[in-house]
Parts: sequence; structure tokens; C-alpha cells
Amino acid sequence: MKTISDTFASIQPRPGDPILGVTEAFLRDPNPNKVNLGVGIYQDGNGKVPVLEVVAEVEKRLAAGSAPKSYLPIDGLATFNNAIQSLLLGTRTEAADRMITVQAPGGTGGLRIGAEFLRRFFPDSEVWISNPSWENHQALFEMIGAKVNLYPYYDAEIKGINRPAMFEAFSKAKPGTVVLLHACCHNPTGFDLNATDWARVLEIVHERELIPFIDFAYHGFNQGLEEDAAPLRSFINSGWPCLIAYSLSKSFAMYQERVGAFSIVCPKADDRSRVLSQLKAMIRVNYSNPPAHGAKIVSEVLSSTELRARWESELSGMRERLKRMRKLFVDKMTTLQIPGFEFVTQQNGMFSYSGLSATVVERLALEHSIYLIRSGRLCVAALNEQNIERVCAAIAK
Ligand code: LMR
Repeated sequence: MKTISDTFASIQPRPGDPILGVTEAFLRDPNPNKVNLGVGIYQDGNGKVPVLEVVAEVEKRLAAGSAPKSYLPIDGLATFNNAIQSLLLGTRTEAADRMITVQAPGGTGGLRIGAEFLRRFFPDSEVWISNPSWENHQALFEMIGAKVNLYPYYDAEIKGINRPAMFEAFSKAKPGTVVLLHACCHNPTGFDLNATDWARVLEIVHERELIPFIDFAYHGFNQGLEEDAAPLRSFINSGWPCLIAYSLSKSFAMYQERVGAFSIVCPKADDRSRVLSQLKAMIRVNYSNPPAHGAKIVSEVLSSTELRARWESELSGMRERLKRMRKLFVDKMTTLQIPGFEFVTQQNGMFSYSGLSATVVERLALEHSIYLIRSGRLCVAALNEQNIERVCAAIAK
């Protein structure tokens, strides 16, 4: 008979995380000039992860108030949930009556709540994610037992989206298929659908009766808060159900506070309380109730006109710096007589799917202490005027 020790001894190691594992390797590297272009964390022009001024200010106020630290409700802070719903909706529409928003521990927590909801109520639905997608998407859905398929998205030949192949795949999907879409700043490619594409996807979703699950982790990092939410709003207001995982890690630069949300737009207003009760039951047995600190900060900022305006301006500062770094990167590569990187300025958000091979990525780490994800995804947000010369020279070499 197999003993407990035998079982422990038979546990196989799993490979490190493809993204956070790169940070682990980076941290082990003693080279003082090392550069981490792996994980999607915004850094300022001095290579520091910023604490936004509005965040620091609200944090001081919260510390001075010494509010008791009792539990939050299972579905989180009501003011936070309302504020997130307003951000998603823009102006209040009829869909608000059919929409539920619960606080989640980060965007990943939101995805996980959604995945469990789907698993329970749509157990036969397969999940389709883009090829490629954020590495954790596939792992997350597979971990809860869903069958994950890839739909065509990026085409390395054209350095862009293979639209016909993507639409064709969607048009053949079985009713009830879950289609995971990136609201903006597609991770990892940086190539987003345009307004016409989004309209077509929505049309197919209705025709084929698919379930859209929209991951919105980079709000404000492409064009701005309103522009980036526009595709999502067309889904929310279309009268069709949709699921949304939302992250504030990036837009508030509060990565370690785990601030996010999960929303469902139900078919009917009458579905809301039943669905919410199920979500609460899932949350309760998972992490009981969410952490408060980050959600309090976000809700204070979003409920004050003055603080919100300042946050928007800090967010646009981050967005503009990313665009400058993209341009600088292409200029430097051109100066080094390595053409063909112009596509970097057409990509959006924190990442560039650089086209660098796994072998090059490995050599960059070993020979230059420059770390990227194995897929060649490069975090533009970690480039600055001090390290870009070194990065470009190493890639050129
Ligand atoms: C990334 O893609 O690097 C970020 O979303 C961080 C993460 O959790 O993977």
C-alpha cells in the first residue's frame, strides 16, 4: 500500500512560472546592471516602481484615521464596487440593472471567480483564448478543469493580427463556448482589435451564442480611460451576457495590494440577486472576503473629483512615457543599423512581442543580465533612458 511518505515522494516538480519565474532568476543575478524586462510592472524614468501621488496622499489619510480592521463583506467594499462599475459603464445605462460587480484579489482573482462560475454553471463550455495569450490564462482555466483551446490571433509573418483566421474560428465555435478577449493592450502581443473588429466579434458572439469573458488589466494604458473602455461598453450594452475581470494593479501602480474586480452582466435584472448569492458562496469558501487597503484607496480616489483628475493625469503620464520608450527603442535600433523593429510603435500597452527567439532571450540573460519572457515578450515599461542603450546594444549583438 502506498504510504503518505510515498505519496509525497511521488509529487513531481512543476516548472517555474513563465513570468514570475523570470523575476526570480533576475533577483538571483548579482550583476548591478541587470535589467528585468519580464514582468509587467510599470517603472518610471529612473527605473523605480512609482507610488502614485494620489495613492500616497490617501494612504496617509487612512493611516491617520486608524479605522478598525474588521472583515469586509464577502463581495467587498460597496463603494469600491460601485466606483468600478461606473468606470466600466461610463454613463449609467440600462445594463447597470443587470450588472453585478464584486471586489476580487487582483485581476487574476477576478478571472478565477469567473472561471469557477463558468465551471459550475456552464460545465460543458470550452474556453478559447488567443494564440498567444497571457501565460496564466491557460493555466488558470486548466487548473479548474476546463478544456482550453487557442484561437488564431497573432501572425508572426505579418507582425500583426490574423483577423480572417480569428473570425473564422469564432464563426465555427459551438454555442456556449467561452471566448476570452483582452479589452486593450493585448498581453503579450500589444496588438489590439480595432473598432470594426470589435463590432464583428460582438456580432459573431450573438450569432453563435458565445460567452464573452473580457480581461481588462491595462485600462488607460492605450489611448485613455474612455477610449480603452469603448469596446467593452459595446459588449456590456449589447443586451448579451458578458463576464469581466478587472485589475487596478497597473492603473494605480498597486501591484502588491491585489485590487481587482469581477463583473457579470446577466441577461435579465431578475438574475442578479441569485447570481450574486452564488458568487458570494464561491468567494466565501475560497478566500472568505477580500483585502481592504487597496480597495479603500481606489474608492477614495474615484469618489473625489479632484483626486480622480489627479489620478487620470498620473495615469496619462505613465501612458505617454511608454509611448516615448517605444519610439526611443526603435530609434536606437535603427541607429545600430538593425531595422525591422518599427512595429514596436504600433503595439500598445506595457509589452512588445519583440520577435526575439527563445535562444536570443536565453543569451540576453546569460551574457547581458537582461531578462525577458521566453516568448520574446519585452516589457517596454521597464525601459528608461539609462538602460535603453545597453538593452539595444545587447539585442543588436
Ligand atoms: C504580466 O503579464 O507580466 C503581469 O500581468 C503580471 C503577472 O501576474 O503575470
